[in-house]
Amino acid sequence: MATLSNNPVTARAHTNIALIKYWGKKDDTLIIPYTSSLSLTLDQFYTDTTVQFDASRSTDQLIIDDQISSEQPLHRVSNFLDIVRRKAQINSPAIVNSHNHVPTAAGLASSASAFAALAAAASKAAGLNLTPSELSRLARRGSGSACRSIFGGFAEWQRGDDDLTSYAMPLKVAALLEDIRVVALTVERGPKAISSRQGMHLSVTTSPYYPTWVKTCQTDLTQLKLAIEKNNFAKFGKISELNAMRMHALTLSADPDFTYFNGQTLTIMNLVKQLRHNGVACYYTIDAGPNVKVLCQKASVAKVVDTFSQLLGKQNVIVAKPGPGIQYL
Ligand code: PMV
Repeated sequence: MATLSNNPVTARAHTNIALIKYWGKKDDTLIIPYTSSLSLTLDQFYTDTTVQFDASRSTDQLIIDDQISSEQPLHRVSNFLDIVRRKAQINSPAIVNSHNHVPTAAGLASSASAFAALAAAASKAAGLNLTPSELSRLARRGSGSACRSIFGGFAEWQRGDDDLTSYAMPLKVAALLEDIRVVALTVERGPKAISSRQGMHLSVTTSPYYPTWVKTCQTDLTQLKLAIEKNNFAKFGKISELNAMRMHALTLSADPDFTYFNGQTLTIMNLVKQLRHNGVACYYTIDAGPNVKVLCQKASVAKVVDTFSQLLGKQNVIVAKPGPGIQYL
């Protein structure tokens, strides 16, 4: 049995951007994916979360960015805390206080950093002393992509077959990592119309291309790891871009079809291709929303930033570097 700490515990987790995407659950409850994925943790966007278990309370309380949360966000966090409480054999309610550090509401807050920070703070406050793999497995139960935010740099989520075998691990530090930059472009700040959970479900159950995605993803992952190992940025960018487009093809081929792109997403994609045509090595990747992340190297950051600042305004262009794994504050 774990020893419950009465002291609050604070953890910081950074967001990650998937280069080989996770898109589809084999098990919806345990969050076991159909495919393995690979991400880069970013230094610019993170969540700080403090958890304190308190036996004198009657219910959990959730505060996000100084606002008390109720309904769906609170239920999701309470369900997650139940997993922690079961593991630690405790039944105290908790206060969860979370701050998202994302430059001026850039629409980049993510469930990955949120659940990675919550997993770290809650497990420690509950007296559990988890290994990095165990922590990754726990974070996965809150949001799949959160299992990768336990680690800094490149992280690979090996899909596994069950709760025990599905977790992320860091990739060996590679030369390519040092030089990489991610230019985050914000075109929309609001919440997405179709959550990643809904979008994945629709893709898995209705896209005739889903089985092909599962096969292709494995090849893409092997190729990307090879490009990282060989320090081949052009290959790295090309595979990342291709894999993102293959994921989005699943939304267009679902029934009913849907897309996360808007007009500006397409404009940015074309501009990236134009820059590339003009000799600037840059590539795009897009998650379940219209915002775009441009992958480039240190030497081309100025050109990329300049191009997109003209289109979107400086405040919508943020340069990120590889970020660290979980930290206790
Ligand atoms: O972990 P979720 O449920 O937020 O899903 C993440 C889905 C993508 O961001 C589109 C891809 C990924 O691997 O992060």
